[in-house]
Order: sequence, then structure tokens, then C-alpha cells
Amino acid sequence: MTPPPRRPSTPEALALLETRRSVAAAGLHAPGPDADQTRRLLAIAARVPDHAMLVPWRFIVISGAARGEIGARLSQAYRENNTHMPEEKREKFAAIMGRLFPAPLAVVVVSRPVESSAIPAFEQELSAGAVCMNLLTGAAAMGFDGIWVTGWAATHKAALAILGVGEGERVAGILHIGTAKEAPADRPRPDVAALTTHWSPPEA
Ligand SMILES: Cc1cc2nc3c(=O)[nH]c(=O)nc-3n(C[C@H](O)[C@H](O)[C@H](O)COP(=O)(O)O)c2cc1C
Repeated sequence: MTPPPRRPSTPEALALLETRRSVAAAGLHAPGPDADQTRRLLAIAARVPDHAMLVPWRFIVISGAARGEIGARLSQAYRENNTHMPEEKREKFAAIMGRLFPAPLAVVVVSRPVESSAIPAFEQELSAGAVCMNLLTGAAAMGFDGIWVTGWAATHKAALAILGVGEGERVAGILHIGTAKEAPADRPRPDVAALTTHWSPPEA
């Protein structure tokens, strides 16, 4: 029997993985993925390891006019839920909520572990994290920039209700995707050698 052909090395993919970095949401402008690219991106995002094929995640896509609409609702919810804060500070953060979706596309990755499953919730949440990372890498492969964020809008009950995140669900990430006008500097990267050990048998 002839063995299957060896998967070829793809230097372009390696270069992308070795250079990809995030761009702050405020720096993400048009163009973003169009409808076909978005569909393709979500299919790439869904191609992740998933123990027992539980599909413990889903997507909420935010684009176009919905960005401003959700921003306005989040801004109001922030005000209503932070009445204890000094007004100036509250208004500052409420305004930030209003501008939360500056990029042409945002994808909320919702983690929804299947409780009845024998697969630990932790493993299911890791799968949702892999979805987020695939979105970032897939967007980069399409020539877009992006960032993975969370924060108040991804965790507060009132914000989750606005986004449409239900009981038993959590936001794994809000992925903002668009085009950076300027190439931001990379951040310092971890010293991988210092983080790596090679197993040897424990001394008796
Ligand atoms: C789960 C998760 C949540 C994050 N939330 C935020 C956030 O709310 N705001 C933020 O500025 N960065 C947040 N980050 C960090 C950025 O996504 C990113 O790691 C950082 O900007 C550098 O990215 P890079 O290593 O892809 O270049 C978060 C990262 C992860 C993994």
C-alpha cells in the first residue's frame, strides 16, 4: 500500500505564526472580512480539537450598525450598574463602552460547557480558547489584524444580557477584527528556553 503523501511544509504559514501580534481594537479600521470571508473565518474557528465532539461553544457576530447599537446599550448599562462610582469616572468608562466595537467585525466566542458530559468543563473551556486563537490566526491568514479581549462587557450580567449570552454560558473572548492603519511594535515575547524543561527520570 502506498503511504499517504507527506504534508508539505508551508513556510508562509510558519512566518505568519512567528510574526502574528495583536492590534488594539481602537486601531482596527475597515476593511474587515466581508460576509463570505466571515463565514470562512468561522469555519476555520470551528476547526479545533473538541474532546467527545461536544461543540461547547458558539458565535455571536457583531458588525455594521449593530456595533453602535450594542455600544449605546452597554454604555447605558454601565451607567446604571455603577452608580456607586464618582460621576466623572463612571462617564469615562460608559463612553468607552459606547465605543467598544470600533473594528468592522467582532465575534463573541461563547463558551457553553455541556454539564452532563464526562468531559471536564475545563477541557471544554480550553476548546473555546482554541476557537478564539483560530479566529485570530485565521484573520491574520486573510490579511486582517485583530485582538482577543474580555473585560466588563464580557463578564457583567447586564452586559451579557445585551450581548445575548445566556445561563450556563460564558464569554471566552470578544475578537475584534479589521485592518491596522499602522504596524504596531511587537511586545516582548517570553523566553521559551527558560520555560522549557526536558523530562528526565526523577532521582531515587
Ligand atoms: C482570555 C484573554 C482575555 C484578554 N482580555 C484583554 C482585555 O480585556 N484587554 C486587553 O487589552 N487585552 C486583553 N487580552 C490580551 C490581548 O488579547 C493580547 O494578549 C495582547 O494584547 C498581546 O497580544 P499578542 O500576543 O497577540 O500580540 C486578553 C487575552 C486573553 C487570552
